[in-house]
Amino acid sequence: MMIKTLPQVHIETFGCQMNESDSELVRSLLKQEGFGFTEDRERADVVLVNTCAIRENAHKKIYSHLSELKTLKKHRPLVVGVLGCMAQNLKSELAEKEPLIDVLAGPDSYRQLPRLLANALDAQEEGLKQKAFALDLSEYETYENIMPDRNNGVNAWITVMRGCDNFCSFCVVPYTRGRERSRDPESILLEARDAAVRGFKQITLLGQNVNSYHHGAWDFAKLISAVADQPGIERVRFTSPHPKDFPPALIEAIAAHPRICKHIHLPLQSGSDRILEMMGRTYTGTDYLALVDRIRTIVPDVVLTTDIICGFCSESDEDFQATARLVEQAQLDSAYIFKYSERKNTIAARKYVDDVPDQLKGQRVAKLVEIQRAITAERNRRYIGKAVEVLIEGDATKSSTQGMGKTDGNITVVWDKNTGHSEPGTLLTKHIFDASAATLYGE
Ligand code: SAH
Ligand code: SF4
Ligand code: F3S
Repeated sequence: MMIKTLPQVHIETFGCQMNESDSELVRSLLKQEGFGFTEDRERADVVLVNTCAIRENAHKKIYSHLSELKTLKKHRPLVVGVLGCMAQNLKSELAEKEPLIDVLAGPDSYRQLPRLLANALDAQEEGLKQKAFALDLSEYETYENIMPDRNNGVNAWITVMRGCDNFCSFCVVPYTRGRERSRDPESILLEARDAAVRGFKQITLLGQNVNSYHHGAWDFAKLISAVADQPGIERVRFTSPHPKDFPPALIEAIAAHPRICKHIHLPLQSGSDRILEMMGRTYTGTDYLALVDRIRTIVPDVVLTTDIICGFCSESDEDFQATARLVEQAQLDSAYIFKYSERKNTIAARKYVDDVPDQLKGQRVAKLVEIQRAITAERNRRYIGKAVEVLIEGDATKSSTQGMGKTDGNITVVWDKNTGHSEPGTLLTKHIFDASAATLYGE
């Protein structure tokens, strides 16, 4: 292969933080091989789309995005690569449906990307039409010797484990990201030190099942404490943990270390034991509440958030009421609530019928959102009159005259910039005078 001018790559990322982190890896891998990057899609020789497959909506968003690229490709040469979970999930079916795609690469195949893209650019120049796929999942790939090319900001993502072995019956992740594997702790600490030197104030440890991290004598409690000990790092977060992997040592590590944030995202999925069993979640509603209590006893000011699915196969009104009751009982700080979306190849798709009408799923989501919103608003009001420590991230999304930052519990705080200094990455104390279900207002 011969690269004549530096080909410019534009990358667009959909899906979860693990995809954000993977896009930073991809950028690093491609830059090492002489590719350039551009923020401007119009000027790109290669457009990469890093995709998500978690719900049908995610697929739809990407299909409509790909049709925009089709228009772009009509007018000029362009190599289009689809990466990530949807590429892995739909494989060649996706490439056949979408003639515009030149390269497909799944989450474990990114080391092959420089070669595949260079070949695709050569083929395009010679007027050849060919497609290349790299879709093998690996039991070992952790990309541990690659330093990601990070986005600017206050937060550095560090992927500490990949894949998932839980096979929750609704979930596509084990099929798109393969078997669970943990990264060498030394390479993680090296990355944490590098992030600190580059001025990142916060590290978020990532994995689809992050607290089941284990490598030799290292478990997640030991890892997160060691990362938080790195000088220069103000805050350490993690996502997403599974409720089954919360030994006392982990809860105690979170409580004990001043730089580990007191925020735990604890996906519930359902409050009905029958549905939890069908989902393969391995806990009951009672177990979940007991865990919430245990965490709150050891980490008194903890902020707890969750994910819930409405309308899973055979979910009755009674099952839904059990979820609503559990949400009332748990009094969590906030929740992401989703309509169940059947995913191809999953256990639920093979064993159960997706029989809750879409409209009813929607009604249940709306009901639960309303219940949680009231709880969140009430929970946020407890900060009124208090001083909270905020890590400044930048301008508020709604107005550049307002600054925005996060509390240790990951709650958004906004304030008028003229009432104080707003340099991103600074830790400041803000006095909270008002609160809504989404935001605390500080001065
Ligand atoms: N690894 C995390 C979840 C990753 S996916 C965990 O174990 O909790 C993020 C959230 O998407 C899940 O918690 C679940 O609530 C939701 N989700 C996953 N598959 C889904 C599906 N098929 N339909 C609707 N929501 C789904
Ligand atoms: Fe999906 Fe369950 Fe794994 Fe989370 S733990 S990624 S929900 S299979
Ligand atoms: Fe989506 Fe894959 Fe993340 S399916 S949620 S991008 S792991």
